[in-house]
Amino acid sequence: MEMVIGADYYPEHWPRERWEEDARLMRKAGFNTTRLTEFSWVKLEPKEGQYNFQWLDDAIGVLGRRGIRSILCTPTPTMPKWVYDQYPEAVARDRDGHLRHFGNRQNNCFSSDTYRRLSRNITTALAERYADNPYVIGWQLDNELSVQKCFCESCENAFRHYLEDKFGTVEVLNEAYGTIFWSQSYGNIGEIHLPRHERPNPSLYLDHCRFHSDLLISFAKEQADILRRICPEHFITHNYMGFAPHVNYYNLGKLLDFVSQDYYYNLDFWDERFSAYVQGAAALDLMRGCKGKNFYIMENSAGPVGWETYGRNIRPGEMRRMTFHNMAHGADGQIWFRWRTCRYGTEQYWHGILGHDGIPSRRYTEAAQTAADLQKVWTELENSTIQSDIAIIYDYSDYWALTQQSNNRDFEYIRAFMPYYRALYRRGVNVDFINSEVATDRYKVIILPHKYILTREYAEKLNRFVKNGGMLLTTCRCGVKNCNNVPLDMTLPGYLRDITGIRVEEYETVQTAKPYTVEMNGEVYEGTLLADWIIPETAEVLARFAVKDTGYPAVTRNTCGDGCVYYIGTVPCDRLADRIISSILDEAGIRRFELPEHTEAMVRSKDGVDYVFMINHTLERQTFPIDGIDLLTGLRADGSLILEPNGVAVIRLT
Ligand code: GLA
Ligand code: ZN
Repeated sequence: MEMVIGADYYPEHWPRERWEEDARLMRKAGFNTTRLTEFSWVKLEPKEGQYNFQWLDDAIGVLGRRGIRSILCTPTPTMPKWVYDQYPEAVARDRDGHLRHFGNRQNNCFSSDTYRRLSRNITTALAERYADNPYVIGWQLDNELSVQKCFCESCENAFRHYLEDKFGTVEVLNEAYGTIFWSQSYGNIGEIHLPRHERPNPSLYLDHCRFHSDLLISFAKEQADILRRICPEHFITHNYMGFAPHVNYYNLGKLLDFVSQDYYYNLDFWDERFSAYVQGAAALDLMRGCKGKNFYIMENSAGPVGWETYGRNIRPGEMRRMTFHNMAHGADGQIWFRWRTCRYGTEQYWHGILGHDGIPSRRYTEAAQTAADLQKVWTELENSTIQSDIAIIYDYSDYWALTQQSNNRDFEYIRAFMPYYRALYRRGVNVDFINSEVATDRYKVIILPHKYILTREYAEKLNRFVKNGGMLLTTCRCGVKNCNNVPLDMTLPGYLRDITGIRVEEYETVQTAKPYTVEMNGEVYEGTLLADWIIPETAEVLARFAVKDTGYPAVTRNTCGDGCVYYIGTVPCDRLADRIISSILDEAGIRRFELPEHTEAMVRSKDGVDYVFMINHTLERQTFPIDGIDLLTGLRADGSLILEPNGVAVIRLT
């Protein structure tokens, strides 16, 4: 089958006469798929229970007859005015109880019975209408469901039910949360409020994050259940946003056939041309990790993006290069946002492939070229997967707990593990992001950064992993707390003390402007943000903080059973992370590539054959040492491959 390629389309923004032309141009560019109805609730259901599907039948038909199939969205992210006016209980409230205003998106309350009913109604009606439409292939649930919390009464009641289910009695909750502090003890669960003020009890805060995530997922599940029942032939997906905070993407993924990602690599990055791609690559790897399989790109930069303001345009060659970067990390579908720059509303400057004028120009030509190249390699790469020997553990409880209490005011969970990620990325080493529910035994190396909340069970799992020959890299602020966000009454790193072979009795933060000096084999590096005062027990010391800082060990290594554990007592600078990762790769015997700076390599595999994606993100010609056939040119790279600026190659290793 062809690879899914296309652009998000809003036929309701354009005159009916234009649709044929849009469909023709899409097909001419080699597109075969579009996504519709994301925000078109009012057009589909102008009044409660009165449906208007004629225009959509028509749009799907016009596109379909030209060879463009449709992914439909449940249109629930934007409520029509009749919902807002008739059902104030369906509208979200801010911390102070004020209703969110009309005209924005995702201003609904997710616990509201009314909103749920309206959501089920429109979902059912759409599903029944399009279950047998030959041009419809699948569904996107709502849109970017990682939204802010609602502080209404219904959410408060739902939260109390959640706590009741979780703890059973108020005594258990009081004990677990330590409500004795500041006289917070509750007489019954009905007395508990949503954490509205800025310094909630950390246990309450974390449970509220979990509750909110579960609430969003239960909303999505109602839609998914309806679609599964009525449209069993269609796939179900959702458009994720990388490291967005509010929903546990692993859990949401359980509802889906596959995950999709919205990826705007030119959103905030003008100067950081390269770092943006590394951050983006990590997000793509997380998308793959959320379900342990490949994913689609549901939205991807097609021009300058922004609302009131916009950023840089995508450069000649960038579209093609970035879609190969997507595919390299596991994208099996490529959909750009959006087809044509819209004329109305907030997104007037969120540019599409076509401009406001609707006339094909450079971006259109490049999208067409890209589509052709993607299809060319797809014939061989369909059903290929990404195998990694290394995983980074990324858990939402740690993310949430470390967001509330960042330990150091400049510490950010997502940034803190990036030095390790970058070290792997630079060497073209495949890496998965997984959560602590995933089995570790298929990996050679586990990176466990700042695993703040650590259960005994997970520690035991890691223990077995290491004793059986696995390598573990762990860091400061690991094993600090139990799952109620309460510090353990154990010497750090808590349950990991045995396998790390160290103890940490004292620790501190490091001023951002004055990083500590770390000395390792006569070289100096930087330790930032956090510093443990490590006391080695059985571990060997690999690096120390300079005497002027603390003089304590900064990096240790402990042999344990057939494996070993590295412990990093700080947030390392890139060079230090690089150095440590490099030794780990050597020790674990993991393949790496010699890559010029700002180039990228990833490996997809199928039937025992490896395909190396090589991508030149620079503006200079680059040479890669590699042997194999380039699927794009059919030429053999005999030990060295030359890539022009923006060049990409997919090398079948022979
Ligand atoms: C999100 C949505 C898109 C679009 C963009 C730009 O990514 O999913 O449909 O609205 O924002 O605003
Ligand atoms: Zn609410």
